[in-house]
Amino acid sequence: MDIIVIGGSGLYDMEELMEKQEITVENEYGTVHVVIGKIDNKEVGFIARHGKKHSVPPSMVNYRANIKAVEGLGARYVIATSAVGSLNEKMKPGDFVLLDQFIDFTKNRIYTFFEDEVRHTDVTEPYCPKLRATILKAGENLNLKIHPEGTYVCTEGPRYETPAEIRAFKMLGADVVGMTQVPEVVLANEIGLCYASIAIITNYAAGISKEKLTHEEVMDVMNRRLPELKKLIIETIRVLD
Ligand code: HPA
Repeated sequence: MDIIVIGGSGLYDMEELMEKQEITVENEYGTVHVVIGKIDNKEVGFIARHGKKHSVPPSMVNYRANIKAVEGLGARYVIATSAVGSLNEKMKPGDFVLLDQFIDFTKNRIYTFFEDEVRHTDVTEPYCPKLRATILKAGENLNLKIHPEGTYVCTEGPRYETPAEIRAFKMLGADVVGMTQVPEVVLANEIGLCYASIAIITNYAAGISKEKLTHEEVMDVMNRRLPELKKLIIETIRVLD
């Protein structure tokens, strides 16, 4: 296997995969459903982060099982997607942001594979520069505007944030907010995967938007951007050597 796509909210399927097969991968952390197939003659696997029916909330996702499954399948590259709220007026609903940093405000997750040994993982560059460059190149090929950098603040959820929290996160330098990058990106770094994440802005964060946030609004924007998102993923896979 070459590449795994981890689909966030809204991305539950990759019908573009050729010779598609569904498999389950078992590891010490759990069971993971993976749809495997080919794109441009590369072996690609797809994992729906929240399950096929979007039934697993952010705090309950089995991040370790998913990332261990990537390793087990022998893939080196992970292209992840996630719906986010924007704290940055320049990043508008519908825009794509290629994450380059994160800030962790989760509080109730398992963050590491290293429970029986002392290992400290460097996360100076949590998102893989090579894969980020490839995604930007793919975006250029498609004439798709992508914000090349963005700092993601990860909250525990499942509630959305208060306007006061959003003001605080903005002061800390966050551009976008979501609930799933931590520990996913951390675990990927622990085992040396080349991991990148395309964030899709579905709304302005609480207090920036004058309206109350709804999951329906988030899903509406996500569904509207899904065709472009899939094209971007496929072009990235095509360009990646
Ligand atoms: N906050 C947290 N997670 C999100 C948001 C948000 O505003 N939008 C989409 N996912």
